[in-house]
Amino acid sequence: MGSLTLAEAKARVQKLRREIDDLRYRYHVLADPAVTDEVYSSLTLELRSLEERFPALVTSDSPTQRVGGTALEKFGQVVHQVPMLSLNDAFSEDEVAAWGERITKLLPGKTVQYMCELKFDGLATSLVYEAGRLRHGATRGDGRIGEDITANLKTIRAVPMRLNLELVHAETFDPELVSRVRRALRNVTRIEVRGEALMSKAAFARLNRAQEKARNGAFANPRNAAAGALRQLDPRVTASRQLDWYAYSLVTDLGQRTHEEEHLICALLGFQVHRQTRVVPGLDGARAFHQEIAVARERLPFEVDGVVVQVNETAAFRQLGVVGKAPRGAVAYKFAARRATTVVQDIIVQVGRTGTLTPVAVLAPVNVGGVTVTRSTLHNVDEIERLGLKIGDTVVVQRAGDVIPQIVEVLSRLRRGNERTFRMPSTCPNCGAKVERRAIAGGTAAGTRFGCTNRGCSTQRLRQLRHVTSKGAFDIEGLGPKVLDKLVGAGVIASAADVFRMKSGDVAALPGLGEKSAANLIAAIASRRTVSLPRFIYSLGILHVGEQTAVDLAGHFGTLAKLRAATLEEIDAVPNIGHVVAASVQKFFRDRRNLRLVEGLLDAGVTVEAQQRRHAGALAGLTVVVTGTLERFTRQQAKDAIRAAGGTPSESVSTTTGMVVAGTKAGSKLTRAKLLGVRVIDEREFARLVGAA
Ligand code: IVH
Repeated sequence: MGSLTLAEAKARVQKLRREIDDLRYRYHVLADPAVTDEVYSSLTLELRSLEERFPALVTSDSPTQRVGGTALEKFGQVVHQVPMLSLNDAFSEDEVAAWGERITKLLPGKTVQYMCELKFDGLATSLVYEAGRLRHGATRGDGRIGEDITANLKTIRAVPMRLNLELVHAETFDPELVSRVRRALRNVTRIEVRGEALMSKAAFARLNRAQEKARNGAFANPRNAAAGALRQLDPRVTASRQLDWYAYSLVTDLGQRTHEEEHLICALLGFQVHRQTRVVPGLDGARAFHQEIAVARERLPFEVDGVVVQVNETAAFRQLGVVGKAPRGAVAYKFAARRATTVVQDIIVQVGRTGTLTPVAVLAPVNVGGVTVTRSTLHNVDEIERLGLKIGDTVVVQRAGDVIPQIVEVLSRLRRGNERTFRMPSTCPNCGAKVERRAIAGGTAAGTRFGCTNRGCSTQRLRQLRHVTSKGAFDIEGLGPKVLDKLVGAGVIASAADVFRMKSGDVAALPGLGEKSAANLIAAIASRRTVSLPRFIYSLGILHVGEQTAVDLAGHFGTLAKLRAATLEEIDAVPNIGHVVAASVQKFFRDRRNLRLVEGLLDAGVTVEAQQRRHAGALAGLTVVVTGTLERFTRQQAKDAIRAAGGTPSESVSTTTGMVVAGTKAGSKLTRAKLLGVRVIDEREFARLVGAA
């Protein structure tokens, strides 16, 4: 490498750029799990050092030029050749139905198909390419004139600096569409694509932590933070904020006939498009999509505030035209607000399964995002202090999907003067035993806790029993809270192990139960005596260990014995398990009282399934396609493993495919999976799922 000629360097530079562009394409467009950051960075590093030695080789669209070194004085202006419109909102099924009716009236005799996609909660931006190079990127502004934020948008890796005009990877798209695009490209030099710039929830959390440390104010939400990042005059600051970008509309005519094809063409050219889209024959399908995303949104890495539904056929969409500033053929079907105000009527204290006393706010019933909320946990006294909450206060309640409702703010200006301060009782509200202070250091659970000192406290026992018998744990039919209450009340059971020792006579003697239901209950318990390792782990009620974490732990350690014996470092090394969780797991198995629970269950005849059995069913009901080369499985072995885990192997990817396993050199099947929104996993994950890890 020492004595490279300019010609040699040039050849190498070109190769590197092509390879880096290709990695970017595979990462952002194909979501190829085999692409790693390390390789990308390492190649970019080599390219950068070559460009430093041979400055003549630097081009403005080189991947090294994403972050400019100088700050701007101010932003220039960009005139949008096609105005940037906005969308009309719909907040209910009725409003969407009314919109659909207007459309069908305007398109008589046509069957209308709709394309549904995510409505990202970020900022609308426009990217203009000339001869395949990013010429400028702009904000929406007033729809006609926006601000030139090219330097900032260039820092986003999901934004291509060069379009894939050679249509590399074309083989993964419909050949007819590709040839249509190829033809259109001959007559086009300027290409405009619009999409959303956004900040992921993770980047937002990171940024706010840093803001707090630096004593700068925190951003209210990822959208504001993204807006702030794009407004930076110094692109180096924007780069540090790690924004993301998704394309949703192709302004230039490249032969697209549907909105779905717009997305596909954007992907073909190198833009990241979100895979969660669906073309539906009517608005029932759009409603279903809306509902699905309303549930899935919590698990998305970024915020969405609804779904966009639009007439799929491009000609029909154009024909529908524009009313005011919004196209008639599209609507933003928003999610219900997830914040509301209400009054804290009381603060009560709940006894948990480990005796911890948790203050809970009793709320005047309020509808938050479609669900009536009457209670909200306050976690601990520190939280009450942090909020500055008093009984009688008017508060803002927020519900985050399947997460429990939370009080996020006290509207102290609405106080009347008769609000009361909450005090933790000195005795257990259930059994009257003395309450002790338990300080919890470190992690998300840090803070002051109070707990009941009576290990025999009936509420504590009841809570633990409810957890052990709950759906995610032993899942015992007929052993709901009411029956448990009776059994504990009558002294039939006092611990989880007792559940598995009960005899039908013990049960039948209880009021309202009788022989038959007693026999059923005992049979239900017997049928659950053998339990999978994840369920068993979950049943123990380890702090921070939910169902998924239990699955991860089981998959990693394979047996209860190994998990019990694991060191903190070993648990820390489990994928998806953070330090706080690891510490909690390790601590759990060091406490004699917890070990008694484990031993007790095993003594009472509970059998924890061997790991192979547990994996039977990991792919239950799923059609699974393997593509590319796997290292540890031949094709036949992979198929056998899929079957053994309850899945059905298949060769082709379609909408009914449940999962795609992508090895190295995965090609068109992988792309198709991405475009259809099929879950893709890599070999490691596959091995873990089928129990070969
Ligand atoms: S289509 C005619 N698709 O929502 C406007 N917009 O008022 C074309 N948005 O700020 C917009 N996700 O940035 C479209 N999948 C999506 C979108 C989306 C978010 C934003 C857009 C604009 C607002 C529309």
